Amino acid sequence: MKIIIINGPNLNLLGKREPGIYGNFTFEEFFKELQHKYFNIELQYFQSNIEGDLIDKIQETGFTFDGIILNAAAYTHTSVGIGDAIKAIQTPVIEVHISNVYQRESFRHQSFISPNAKGIIVGFGLQSYELALLSFIKNNSL
Ligand code: DQA
Repeated sequence: MKIIIINGPNLNLLGKREPGIYGNFTFEEFFKELQHKYFNIELQYFQSNIEGDLIDKIQETGFTFDGIILNAAAYTHTSVGIGDAIKAIQTPVIEVHISNVYQRESFRHQSFISPNAKGIIVGFGLQSYELALLSFIKNNSL
């Protein structure tokens, strides 16, 4: 089973960035633990601050992978292009957010990802990614 986690802008700063909202762990530390725990899953990770690079990665993996776990970060709320990319591919996408965006500013309540996502997991910290992964694993074994 091939799953990719795709992270958008500023998520490379996890651990340093607004730790009160996003926590103290770097994504790399968390990802290593995830790979260790789910060693039988082919788990990949990609991060970019550039919208077009995120779209390229969605297109590249969107016909061969079993699942995409996408935190498009700020582009969630602005990017028609990422929304269209998700419509264009076949691989199911789970939208995740570390923070509960619905408890935050109203501009974070809008998502161009949600209408075309398989599901949405919001507000569980880094555990949001693991819950998304478990959903793909469970679905695959049904
Ligand atoms: C985020 C929420 C977004 O509103 C924000 O722009 C981010 C991170 C989250 O994971 O909570 O960069 O996607």
